[in-house]
Formats: sequence, C-alpha cells, structure tokens
Amino acid sequence: MPVSIKTPEEIEKMRVACRLAAEQLDYIAPFVQPGITTDELNKLCHDYTVNVQGAVPAPLHYSPQGHTPYPKSICTSINHQVCHGVPGDKVLKNGDILNIDVTPIKDGWHGDASRMFYVGTPSIQAKRLCEITYHAMWLGIRSVRPGAYLGDIGYAIQRYVESQGYSVVREFCGHGIGRKFHEEPQVLHYGKPRSGLKLEVGMVFTIEPMVNAGKAAIRQLGDGWTVVTKDHSLSAQWEHTVVVTEDGVEVLTVSAGTPGEPEF
Ligand code: MF3
Ligand code: CO
Ligand code: CO
Repeated sequence: MPVSIKTPEEIEKMRVACRLAAEQLDYIAPFVQPGITTDELNKLCHDYTVNVQGAVPAPLHYSPQGHTPYPKSICTSINHQVCHGVPGDKVLKNGDILNIDVTPIKDGWHGDASRMFYVGTPSIQAKRLCEITYHAMWLGIRSVRPGAYLGDIGYAIQRYVESQGYSVVREFCGHGIGRKFHEEPQVLHYGKPRSGLKLEVGMVFTIEPMVNAGKAAIRQLGDGWTVVTKDHSLSAQWEHTVVVTEDGVEVLTVSAGTPGEPEF
C-alpha cells in the first residue's frame, strides 16, 4: 500500500479528530495528581471521549497482529515504562512522570497525541528528560516540508537526543494515520539525512519519539502491551499528528492547552 495523500476535505476531518485528542489531554491534565490511579484517569478520558466529544477511543479493543486486544481507552506509561502502559490500580505518587496517549476517532478519522505530565514535583533529571524529549519531537516536526525525507526527521531527533546523552527507542515509530489508526509510512525516530520516503503535500503522520535516560533496549511485560526500559531507566515520549503543507508543516493535534513550540 502506498502512502495516502489526503485531500483538503479529509485534512479538515483530521483537524477535528486531532483537536479532540489535544482537548482530551487538556481535560485530563488537572486530574494528574498524587493519589489518583491510572484506571481512574482511563475512566475519566473514556467518558469524556464518548459523552462529551461524541468520539470513540481507538485503543479500546485495538488488536494489531500478534497482540491481544488492548483492554483500555488510553495508554498511561509511568517512569521507566516506554509506551503502551495499560491503566490499572497503580496509584500515582509525587515525583512520577507520566505519558498519557489518546486517540479519539471522530466521523471515522483518527487523531493521535500524547504528552508528558509531572505528578507533583519531578526530579531535576526527570524534568530534563521530558524537556529534551519535547525538543526532540519539535526538531522532528521542523524537519517536515515537501521535498524533505523521512530520514531527515529521524536524523534530527536522533542527533539531538544522543548529543544530550540519551537514547532513542528503535522498536516503535511514528506512523501514517487517517481512517486507520496505523498506516504507512513508518516514521522512524532515528536515521540518515536524505534517506527514505520523500515527503509530499497532504501526507499525514505522527512524530512520537520515545527517549530513554539510559540504554535504548526495551522489554515487553507479561500483559502483552506495556513496554519498559530493560535497564529500568526513565523514559519519556511526546506525540503530535502533523500534515505536510505547501509551506512546510501544520501540527493538527492542537488545542487551547497545547504547549508551545520551544525556542531553539
Ligand atoms: N497511541 C499509540 C500510538 O501512538 C498506539 C497505542 S496502541 C494501543 O501509536 F493499543 F496500545 F492503544
Ligand atoms: Co501514534
Ligand atoms: Co499515540
């Protein structure tokens, strides 16, 4: 399957789904406090998606090949969890860092975004990891323009992350998105400049680097979903859905509460 080019009408539908993803993260932010469980966050997000946004949470029962159906409506990845953390009875405590990843489906179109949240006050190291990962995502976003290559995105992210003494997770990547949750292309967060697919106006995909404070190696837990760092070092991730435009790039997953573009 080739990479789909979305029409302006389709991009408008993506804009709506993606705004709902960002608004869901705005909604949940004040609830991320010491004492709440990730299951409670899941329930709040689920109800907001369904009852307020009139949307469907794509993760719930999502069953890609080789996986059991995903049991919850959002992913909550704490501390050394890299991604796909399954909400449960785990109680958040002061100093934890938490990624919340949401993907509402609105009128058949998917919007995919995640942010890092601090539970209470983070350590200096945890805060630095989250900030560097945010910068890394933005360096990737700023590499997007018609005629650039997917490899330019991965290179920008990898070069920066490794210059800061951190490592990029290899096993998971960004992805094309639209009527399907995960479609072509795969957007690697490492790579070589001017390699891979050439970007064209109308391509829509996510950029979602996972950055480990220690080594890049990961391991999957027995629940079939939760991914952790092998060395138990902290891990962070941010995600936006973007579209390639004539001018360069438009971030689709924006809302009133979306953190701004960092200064470089
Ligand atoms: N939202 C994740 C992504 O960014 C995918 C989660 S799949 C799930 O691609 F099944 F774990 F929800
Ligand atoms: Co994604
Ligand atoms: Co996501």
